[in-house]
Amino acid sequence: MVCIAYAFKTLCLCLFFIVVASRPTVKTKVFNVQRHGSKPDGKTDNANAFTSVWSRACARRSGRSKIYVPKGTFYLGGVEFVGPCKNPIEFVIDGTLLASANPSDIKQDTWINFRYINDLSISGFGTLDGQGKKSWPLNDCNKNSNCPKLAMTMGFAFVNNSNIKDITSLNSKMGHFNFFSVHHFNITGVTITAPGDSPNTDGIKMGSCSNIRISNTNIGTGDDCIAILSGTTNLDISNVKCGPGHGISVGSLGKNKDEKDVKDLTVRDIVFNGTSDGIRIKTWESSASKILVSNFVYENIQMIDVEKPINIDQKYCPHPPCEHAQKGESHVQIQDLKLKNIYGTSKNKVAVNLQCSKSFPCKNVKLIDINLKHNGLKGGPSIAMCENVDGSASGKMVPKHCLN
Ligand SMILES: *[C@@H]1O[C@H](CO)[C@@H](O)[C@H](O)[C@H]1NC(C)=O
Ligand SMILES: *[C@@H]1O[C@H](CO)[C@@H](O)[C@H](O)[C@H]1NC(C)=O
Ligand SMILES: *[C@@H]1O[C@H](CO)[C@@H](O)[C@H](O)[C@H]1NC(C)=O
Repeated sequence: MVCIAYAFKTLCLCLFFIVVASRPTVKTKVFNVQRHGSKPDGKTDNANAFTSVWSRACARRSGRSKIYVPKGTFYLGGVEFVGPCKNPIEFVIDGTLLASANPSDIKQDTWINFRYINDLSISGFGTLDGQGKKSWPLNDCNKNSNCPKLAMTMGFAFVNNSNIKDITSLNSKMGHFNFFSVHHFNITGVTITAPGDSPNTDGIKMGSCSNIRISNTNIGTGDDCIAILSGTTNLDISNVKCGPGHGISVGSLGKNKDEKDVKDLTVRDIVFNGTSDGIRIKTWESSASKILVSNFVYENIQMIDVEKPINIDQKYCPHPPCEHAQKGESHVQIQDLKLKNIYGTSKNKVAVNLQCSKSFPCKNVKLIDINLKHNGLKGGPSIAMCENVDGSASGKMVPKHCLN
């Protein structure tokens, strides 16, 4: 009797799973790119094959679509994956996507671009190889107004409720990942790598975004590990390793008209190793827009041989002389910053630099438990420098703070 009851229960359970699993709404259709005309020979341009797979996956009316890139090297020209799609799309990359080494072969500003999509998920243990090496020496736009336009590796614009997991981005020509007007997006387990001397190879760059989470990610590049630009709010960054690179950087801000506030940033459990900067906020002098930078928390951050561990620079001018150098102070108001448990070593004597605007002094800057030692051979212990800052300090304080 017990046995029959048990068999019956098992049968019911099995039927239940069969019914659940075969409901049309959860059915996934797999598009293996190799079975749809793509060739992993590292030479054939698979751009058309990929975009036609995308169109089919995107147009399905029910279920989920999964685009699968198996192991192998798929050479890919510039591609745009455009929605809106009728169903969620999973893009699983286990192979290598290879860009052209010749920058003029990519005739758009982003090599692989996603636009107007909800519910996109990109994952896999594959690599986006931007082959930037030939492009880096051409990146001389500071000096040469005819400099060639170089493509970023992967871009997202007007994308919501989506995520990237696990993939690697290698040697972008310009930035690796670019986000514009993206909301509710998670980035986790991603690896981003380019040499420390490769110009403008930002790791993750975003503007006009909200509710982005970046976690468990390893970034080493020749520019900002993460760059946070105008209009970004509710950004959460945790468990990130950054180095080489220029740190986690807010800005530059204030240069252009119509910029928007940057608010609600949390940065915690970070290691900066051998970077030029760590915690950085940069705004131009004499800004065209008057905006607010507020409610930032930086917590549990280790600095290893960082040139400028904490650096607020409201006189940003990377290539002097700057045309607005004479026009006065930054109009970007920085306020409500908390920096807690920031420790390690500073390559420069000035470990803490809080250089704020005379017209809009920084307000409510809280320093709690700072321990940043100067590791240089000469010059003595680390110091802090303040200009136009109002705030408070508590707990361990190395260097001695300079707040009013
Ligand atoms: C994406 O989210 C933003 C902000 O929540 C919203 O304004 C926009 O309409 C959304 N886009 C789509 C396509 O759902
Ligand atoms: C992002 O991660 C959070 C926390 O793990 C989760 O609640 C949320 O649903 C995720 N969102 C997306 C779009 O993957
Ligand atoms: C920091 O970087 C150096 C040089 O690349 C490396 O040898 C060291 O292991 C790194 N330290 C940590 C804690 O990651």
